[in-house]
This record gives sequence, structure tokens and C-alpha cells, in this order.
Amino acid sequence: MKILAIESTCDETAAAVVENYGKGVRVIKSVVASSVEMHQKYGGIVPEVAAREQIKSIIPVIMEAVHEETIDAVAVSYGPGLMGSLLVGVETAKALAWAWNKPLLRVNHLAAHVLANWLGEEVPELPAVGLVVSGGHTDLILLESLEKWTWIGGTRDDAAGEAFDKAARILGLPYPGGPEVDKAAGKVGDEELDKSDHKYKLPRPLIHEPGLGMSFSGIKAAISRLVSKEDRLSETNRNLIAREFTEAVTDVLISKTMSAVDIYHPKSVIMAGGVAANNKLRESLKHEVEMTGVKFFVPEIKFCGDNAAMVGAAAILRPDNSQPDLKPDPGLSIV
Ligand code: KG4
Ligand code: ZN
Repeated sequence: MKILAIESTCDETAAAVVENYGKGVRVIKSVVASSVEMHQKYGGIVPEVAAREQIKSIIPVIMEAVHEETIDAVAVSYGPGLMGSLLVGVETAKALAWAWNKPLLRVNHLAAHVLANWLGEEVPELPAVGLVVSGGHTDLILLESLEKWTWIGGTRDDAAGEAFDKAARILGLPYPGGPEVDKAAGKVGDEELDKSDHKYKLPRPLIHEPGLGMSFSGIKAAISRLVSKEDRLSETNRNLIAREFTEAVTDVLISKTMSAVDIYHPKSVIMAGGVAANNKLRESLKHEVEMTGVKFFVPEIKFCGDNAAMVGAAAILRPDNSQPDLKPDPGLSIV
């Protein structure tokens, strides 16, 4: 079964054609257009600009993805996200499904991030603990089967991605901040860190508290204090702070994920969402999880950020036939 999947929840316009393949999902074509450059001068996403760019890109992106494939169904992310952006993908998917007389499948964008881990030859064995880290969400979930998911923990305030974006702004790095902070942190080797005498220290909130709650707003306030003490932030010091910030956030994420492993004894740990592209987090979480004999999965970097292949995977693995009057749900949660 070949599915045309559409993703337009935020500032990426994406379309993909995917099909089922063994226990996983094979990507035939995946196309992503982003309006991120247009938001850079504002230091964040401007919803009205994002929606207008979605309208410009949606048809070219779909045409490139479909090419000469014959499609059996149309899938679309219907939330969470920005209302104006969501409407573009949902209305286009409805029109295509109606014109082609094919089923319309609705997909939860956060579930799609998780199911990006099935876009490969080897798929996670369940039960699994899932860490979802994106721009707007930071959740721990237990996946007992492809259908039965339970929320088991997450952030009480800011999402990890949001913290990365704010840290970048404080450090004078461009939007979107996550990849920039990742790059700056990667420039500091262990030797250089030792030489600096670990002069920058940030808190690891709630790390010693029992439970699976997280908090990132305190780290953000602390980095702001660190930077305001510097007369002029040299590149070396900026990189050192970026590394300490990345370690503070990843320490919290890893510690809470490993607590979930202790509590639930899963067969796999899977990570998903834009922040799952972070080099330090990918490496360190993989190391910690594999030390316990549990398998670790994370999508290829190109399938961590918003894309439509993951939406197709979700439509195949958790099909949810929709009504022709499907409406976006900007506030949808993961379970
Ligand atoms: O999942 P995503 O693409 O969009 C949402 O659904 O929110 O996540 C975007 C978030 C942004 O906050 C971005 O800064 C962050 O993911 N991000 C990263 C990295 N790449 C993207 N954060 C840390 N390190 C990265 N390499
Ligand atoms: Zn996303």
C-alpha cells in the first residue's frame, strides 16, 4: 500500500510517498521545504508568515513527492501545531483524497515523530520507553504495543527544544538555535574544557528528585545570568557555555529516561523529535541505554526534524481513517 503523506504543522512543508515493508516502512520519496530562513530575522516563528509559505510550497512539494507513483491513500498531520499552517496541509489532503477517491488518514504529529523509528530495516521491539524531544514538547511515554501508549513523564515547563532556542538567542546565535548550540558545543574538546577549569556551571533541575518530571526553565534563567556577567562574550567562552548548556539539558533527559528504564524494564528505548538530532544526546543516551543491555533507536538525522515520511509511517502503523470533514487540532497531545 502506497501512501502520500503530508506534513505542514509549523514552518516545514513536506510530502512523502511511503509503503509498508516487513514490520517497518520504506520511504520511496521524501521532500521537505522550510521557511526557516524567513523567520531568522524575527528570532522565532511568525505564524502568519509560516502559513503563507505553506500555501506557496504545498503543491510543488506534493508534485515532486508523488511524481509518477500510484497512491492508495492520503495521510496528513492534523495537530499539534499552528492553526494557519495546519489548515494548509489538512485542506490539501482532503481535496486530494476526494478527487482521487482514496481514504484519508489522520495522523498525530507527535506520534509520527515517534514512529519515525520504524523507517528502517530493523524496528524497535516493544515494550519500549520513548523520549520525545521537540520544539514544543518533552515527553516520556511507554509503548506497550503500536496502539497502547501511556504518558509516564515529561517537562513541567519549557520543552527541551524551546530551551535550546532560547539559549541560542542569549548566546547571540541565529534561529533556530538547537543546531547552532550543538555546533558551538562540538567545538570544545575535553582537553579545552579541562583547561578552562569547568568555569561555567549550570544547574540540572530535578535530577535528584524521584519521578519522571523534568524542568528546563531554570537552566534558561541560569544561562542568562552567566552571559550577563561577561563584559564581552568571546567565541571561546560562548562555545564553553554552549557545551555546558548541552550537557545540563542532556544530563536531565538521560537521567529521567534511564529512571524510566529502571521502572518499566523495556526491550527498547526510542528517541524522537527535532532535539533527537543533537549529537551529544544521541551519543550519550545510546551509550547509557546499551550499557543496560536494552536496544536503542533514534531516526536518521533527516527524519528527526519535521518531515512527511514519519507521517506516512504513522498512517501505516496506526491507521486512523478520518471523516471527510477532518479539522486541525492545534492542541493535540501525544496520547
Ligand atoms: O520536532 P521539531 O522539528 O519541531 C517541532 O515539532 O517542534 O523540533 C524543533 C526543535 C527546535 O527547538 C530546534 O532548535 C531543535 O528541535 N533542534 C535541536 C537540534 N536540531 C533541532 N536541538 C538541539 N540540537 C540539535 N542538533
Ligand atoms: Zn515536530
